[in-house]
Amino acid sequence: MEAAAALAARRGGKVRFVALDLQHARVERELKEAFARLLESSAYTLGIEVESFEAEFAEYSHARHCVGVASGTAALSLMLEAYGIGAGDEVIVPAHTFIASALAVAHVGATPVLCDVLEGTGLIDPAAARAAVGPRTAAILAVHLYGQACDMDALHAFAGPRGLLVLEDAAQAHGATYHGRRAGSLGNAAAFSFYPSKNLGALGDGGAICTDDDMLAARLRRLRNLGQRAKGEHVELGYNERLDGLQAALLRVKLAHLDEWNEARQAHGALYRQLLDPAIRLVEERPESPSVHHLFPARFEDRAAVATVLKEHGIETGIHYTPAVHGHPAWGQDQVRHGEVPNAEAWAAEELSLPMHPDLSPDEIERVADAVHAAVRTPSARSGEARC
Ligand SMILES: Cc1ncc(COP(=O)(O)O)c(C=O)c1O
Repeated sequence: MEAAAALAARRGGKVRFVALDLQHARVERELKEAFARLLESSAYTLGIEVESFEAEFAEYSHARHCVGVASGTAALSLMLEAYGIGAGDEVIVPAHTFIASALAVAHVGATPVLCDVLEGTGLIDPAAARAAVGPRTAAILAVHLYGQACDMDALHAFAGPRGLLVLEDAAQAHGATYHGRRAGSLGNAAAFSFYPSKNLGALGDGGAICTDDDMLAARLRRLRNLGQRAKGEHVELGYNERLDGLQAALLRVKLAHLDEWNEARQAHGALYRQLLDPAIRLVEERPESPSVHHLFPARFEDRAAVATVLKEHGIETGIHYTPAVHGHPAWGQDQVRHGEVPNAEAWAAEELSLPMHPDLSPDEIERVADAVHAAVRTPSARSGEARC
């Protein structure tokens, strides 16, 4: 705690977007002990630390199984492949998300069909997802963007009777709940990312799939490890997408602090809402799905002007995400499909993420709120009437 405060003081008043050094300073001793333990065990790939982390994260996420893999992107594509999704299949994905949600679909040879998101939350619009269902649809990917779970009941209501899978992209939602149940237990299977800045982040890359499906978990364990059923016995064409023992050992340390860190994020979110003028457009938060605030997005018609003013006040910001998924030049002809997605386009054009991490101080949040108010009062940042 003292080390964290000293580090913060050294930063010279900048309000940072993320501050992993502060977080790691709090658990430095535990991280070093985990490293020492790993050195002693020599279990560098899979092994005891991975198995222990998997058991702990499965329990945390209210799931029967957790299978650790090398990244969130690998978690998504292995989850799809383990369900046999591939060429000729379509997966419905929200048009407003990190591109990896849709890339994973393309990586297994299937087609991402992008649907619109809700104006208020930026999350998949169940009515739009339902309208996108066709004869080739195999699954719906519910992306719990920004830390808030999607409207899962509405997705299951149309997916269940049609025999469609409901899969979670929970990369931004470790510990998020929906009617009290945690992300990771809200669909047939869920993919997590442990990219360092996530609510639960490794000190490098990592990911996992959580599921109650025994057969799926067994297949995932083979797919991530070159298709091996037992040592030297390769029964399918798998990949090297294992979670490192070192990352698992470090993740175990951080998992023990996840609730405390999520609670800090939630307190920061509440303070932002209290301080910011109600005219500033923030994510709508539903009572049944309290956000764990992986990010804290606001929307401004002229976000570049707002970002400039915040920068002048020493405040870092981010954009998540622009353009909408189909707007990236990576896609070739027919590799992605979409209809009209006006809400996704608007989110992509207007979203500006304010600083959000567990170690923000109330003073810093106050500074951000003041700077936002100063920004929307400046003519260049003001758009139309009183809209922000
Ligand atoms: C919504 C979403 N899906 C997937 C990913 C991919 O995870 P990774 O970077 O670990 O591959 C991320 C994060 O990076 C993400 O935010």
